[in-house]
Amino acid sequence: MIPIVLFILVCTICYFLVKKNHEYWEKRGVVGPKPSFLVGNVGKSFILQASPGEIYTEIYRKYKNASVVGLFRSETPILLVRDPELLKEITIKSFQHFRDNDIDVDKKHDPLFGRNPFALRGDEWKTVRGQLTPGFTSGKMKWLYSYLETNAKKMVEFLQRVPETSYEAKELSLRFTLNNVGDAVFGIEGKCFEEENSEFRKLSKEFLSPGSYGVIMIFLATLFPPITKIFPLRFVTKSVEKKLTNLVSDALKYRKDNNIVRNDFMHILSQLKQTCEGFTDLDVTAHAAGFFGDGSETSAMVLSFVLYQLSVNPDPQSKLRDEVTKAFEKNNNNLPYEVVQDLAYLEAVIQETLRIQPPIHSLQKLCTKNFTWTLKETNKPLVIEKGTPIIIPMLALQRDEEHFEDPESFHPERFLGKNRENIKKCTYMPFGEGPRACLGQRFGLLQIKVGLAYIIKNFELTLNKKTKLPLKYDPTNVLITPIGGLWLDFKKIE
Ligand code: HEM
Repeated sequence: MIPIVLFILVCTICYFLVKKNHEYWEKRGVVGPKPSFLVGNVGKSFILQASPGEIYTEIYRKYKNASVVGLFRSETPILLVRDPELLKEITIKSFQHFRDNDIDVDKKHDPLFGRNPFALRGDEWKTVRGQLTPGFTSGKMKWLYSYLETNAKKMVEFLQRVPETSYEAKELSLRFTLNNVGDAVFGIEGKCFEEENSEFRKLSKEFLSPGSYGVIMIFLATLFPPITKIFPLRFVTKSVEKKLTNLVSDALKYRKDNNIVRNDFMHILSQLKQTCEGFTDLDVTAHAAGFFGDGSETSAMVLSFVLYQLSVNPDPQSKLRDEVTKAFEKNNNNLPYEVVQDLAYLEAVIQETLRIQPPIHSLQKLCTKNFTWTLKETNKPLVIEKGTPIIIPMLALQRDEEHFEDPESFHPERFLGKNRENIKKCTYMPFGEGPRACLGQRFGLLQIKVGLAYIIKNFELTLNKKTKLPLKYDPTNVLITPIGGLWLDFKKIE
């Protein structure tokens, strides 16, 4: 009898605590959907029906007149921000109040990802960001450009060599970006076009597939970050960590023994080791590993979506081919760095793809200091409390007809001349915004540009029927990943 009474008592207390918690946003005058017990508003994600990004997009669209929407991720109150003015405060003007990402990685448990700027917090983030930034200047990009162009040529030769005319665009793009990372970071040839399963490709596959336990943990940590306190996250497995450590030390030893100075990321990292106190071998490996992952996967995803968009939008495809072909003709069938940077339509095609399919659909920030904001709809102040997770719904903003006319259609012209200037700040932010925006944006865009220019000059793209339409996305992947892949036909232009 006593255990039953105790059980009922505990359940009743839990019920009232949860009920009280669920009043958190209502009490503060913030609208939002009713949360469910334990799963909050992200239940669909727990049963793999939708990714958190899709859930946030749906909620964003439902609350058209609200500048913020109060939600619950499990039992944690989180704030989805719709108002671009408030987003400007969060990412730029009042950055000091929101400077951390809502991710908790223990450096002791995951020494490589734990050192990635994305995972670092507070002053430690500031120091590391300052150390790495000089590696991404336009001067450095110009220096690395010849490697990217060589790899773009290899990609064209590969497509001409393989007997099939249809190819999965992400798989192709990843071979290209991995080769680039091999050259730009480690100073080694990735051989991703020459060999079906080069060592570098195998390492990338292992790096990007953290095993089913890892996938489940990353997925759960996105929905319920406190879980990392009990089961610390490990993005980079022990085996990958060991291989990357060896790769870095071999590369450094080879340079030292042969007196080689190469103006690449590895050189910058080894210089940091000499000039910055506390910058160890482990830091060199961690940042090389970071560039390895960040530098290949997101850019490959974007390039594959650009190719997909062009395959279903023939007019922009031929317009882009005209621009690119003329540039090649004017430059003895080459595409120098300055020329590729000046191709306005090429840039616009990529930006328009990033608008429709940003690889990272939403960002999760953390309020690090109380912040007060007057809500437009009620004209009353809202105190965003320290510790509140903030959702920046990039995909939803970028496909909102209030900010972009006919948002589901592909119109690169939106990013040309005056049109581009008219885009409201913080309604388009595929690389994030403010001091914490993507560190590798220049490198990412440059490799996508040169790869795309070489493909579009040499091949006509059409959609292959193996691509499953309408596109559906893997609910367990934090990056937008189309289920079944993007299959395209590449017809050689004679
Ligand atoms: C086109 C491809 C890419 C896209 C769309 C992209 C997007 C993003 C986004 C949305 C963020 C979060 C920004 C924020 O928190 O406000 C980010 C952060 C970051 N990205 Fe990228 N990225 C790309 C390519 C790259 C490349 C090529 C590198 C490195 C070689 C890179 C390195 C980083 C790093 C280190 C951060 C963390 C910055 C920090 O917290 O200070 N990314 N990226």
